[in-house]
Amino acid sequence: MSTPKNIHTTFDRILQRKDKEAMLNQKGMVVWMTGLSGSGKTTIAVALEKLLAEKGILTQILDGDNIRSGINNNLGFSEEDRKENIRRIAEVSKLFVNCGIVTLNCFVSPTKDIRQQAKQILGDDMVEVFINTPFDECEKRDVKGLYAKARAGEIKNFTGLDAPFETPEAPLLDIRTVGLSVEECATQIYDAVLPLIKQ
Ligand code: ADX
Repeated sequence: MSTPKNIHTTFDRILQRKDKEAMLNQKGMVVWMTGLSGSGKTTIAVALEKLLAEKGILTQILDGDNIRSGINNNLGFSEEDRKENIRRIAEVSKLFVNCGIVTLNCFVSPTKDIRQQAKQILGDDMVEVFINTPFDECEKRDVKGLYAKARAGEIKNFTGLDAPFETPEAPLLDIRTVGLSVEECATQIYDAVLPLIKQ
């Protein structure tokens, strides 16, 4: 997008990303986890963050419920609001990445269009990880009790029920969580992203 009128950015005068990455001895990037509500995105991110911390890697977890209680607390779950949700998150992630930080993003991000928008903002700094837990399994676990509410008609536009979830076409990783422990899922992601962070 072009710079709006009367806006004079100072990006060129701020200490550069490469200097910050050298300070931290890591490359900034976004590990973007997509999957149904209750698929395990945030739980896996917490375990992944611990593994990365043991290597001295600085991370920031961004998660749907947290972001929606703060910066995005004026957004709902219409397609338009979800798109705006993800646009702002991608822009926020970009600020972290420019600081050399690894962000672990846990958002349903349900459609190809929405994920493509994030990719447009973040480019090669973003890798997509599909937390692949089938709808039936998420409903069985129902950690937050939302599936029961959605079935009862108390929540509208619920992903996988009366709002779409489009399977990612070419994610870096497709984590089939059923039968795996949280640690096993986190380790699969860790093994794939560590070489990208410690180059
Ligand atoms: S996204 O679709 O815009 O990417 P986001 O990840 O921010 O969604 O938020 C999803 C979280 O909001 C879910 O994990 C769940 O806790 C809660 N939630 C509340 N209503 C809905 C809904 N209608 N569909 C999906 N998630 C919902």
